[in-house]
Formats: sequence, C-alpha cells, structure tokens
Amino acid sequence: MKDIVDIIKTRRSVREYSEKQVSDEDIKFLIDCARFAPSGFNMQPWSFLVVKNKDVMRKISEQGKKSMIPLLEPMKGASKKAADFLVFLKTKGTSMFYDAPVLIIILGNKSVMTADWDCAMAAQNMMLAAHSKGMGSCWIGGVLPALMDEKFLKELGAPEGCKAVAPLIFGYLKGKTEMPGRAEPEVKWLR
Ligand SMILES: Cc1cc2nc3c(=O)[nH]c(=O)nc-3n(C[C@H](O)[C@H](O)[C@H](O)COP(=O)(O)O)c2cc1C
Repeated sequence: MKDIVDIIKTRRSVREYSEKQVSDEDIKFLIDCARFAPSGFNMQPWSFLVVKNKDVMRKISEQGKKSMIPLLEPMKGASKKAADFLVFLKTKGTSMFYDAPVLIIILGNKSVMTADWDCAMAAQNMMLAAHSKGMGSCWIGGVLPALMDEKFLKELGAPEGCKAVAPLIFGYLKGKTEMPGRAEPEVKWLR
C-alpha cells in the first residue's frame, strides 16, 4: 500500500487508456470509497450512474461536444488551450471520454444545499482510490453542459431530483502521463 501523500501527489488526469476493462468488482470498490467522503450534515446526497455501454458513452460525448463548442468559440482567441480543445472537439471520431472503458457520473440530490461540494469530495475519493489500485481517471467537466439538460439526463436513467455533478472516467493507462505544473498559491498567515 502506497503512502497517502504519495497517492495524492502522483495521481494524474489520464487521457489515454488501454482496452482493459474495469471489473464490476473494482467499480463497486470505487463507489464504496466514495461513500466515505465527508458531506454536509452527513447527508450523503449522491448516487452513481455507471456507464459501460460504448454506444451510450458515444452519445453523451457527441451531445457534450455539441453543447461545449459554442461555449468555447468566444474563448479561442484568448486561450491557446481553449483553441486546441476546440479543434479536438471538432475532430470527427474523437471522444470526450478518451475511449476509457467506464464512465461514472456522480449525481447530486438537487434539494441538498451542499450536494455539489459533497459530490466533489466523493469524486476525489474515487480518483485517489483508483490510483491506489493502478487505475487512471479523469473528471470530464466538459460534458456537464450537455448533462444539464434534464430530459437527456432522465433518458440516461438518472433518478428524479438529481443533477449531474462529476462525470468521471476510469481505466488502465496506455502510456505515461506527465504532471502539469503547479503554481505556488498565495498564502496569507494571520498570526
Ligand atoms: C472540475 C474539473 C473539470 C475538468 N474537466 C475536464 C475535461 O472536460 N476534460 C479533460 O480532459 N480534463 C478535465 N479536467 C482535468 C484537468 O484538466 C486536470 O485536473 C488538470 O489539468 C490538472 O492535471 P492533473 O489532474 O493530472 O493533476 C477537469 C478537472 C476538474 C477538477
């Protein structure tokens, strides 16, 4: 077992996956780890939509692209990253899920005030737990504008009263993933 600090510092967002499937047992393990995240008033306002079906993942990715492209268009002049991402989204055949074998959407209970933060906590638990087991992961916020469409979310099987908070992909790494730089945050000490 690796040390927790090592797990935190070496987790990376993975965008290249091998064909190897994530077993249902490992998916249950990740969801079990999510359960132990802190939540406001211990409300645990989360549920999980596990998507292993390639056609459904493709459909979400295509809807994601459709919703994201007009949002990014105005940013392409100001950010090279936005411009590059736009090219990726417009390229036929690319997947917003990078061909990962599984997508788990963490859904938050809309009537719970802290649901967004609680679900983000659960997401980090899952991504760290995946890394500890040799799996890669990535939060795919880019599909959230598409998942905000309640009709579409319902079509996917989300229960009533939920919103999509954290779309996460998991799988096994194809190659190595470099760590993007980290800035020194501003820290103010009041002593
Ligand atoms: C809220 C959120 C949304 C994100 N959305 C995307 C996304 O749509 N596509 C993607 O490839 N990565 C996405 N990421 C991953 C970030 O790009 C990544 O965390 C960041 O570049 C730092 O890299 P690291 O996770 O390897 O440390 C997202 C991360 C967060 C926390």
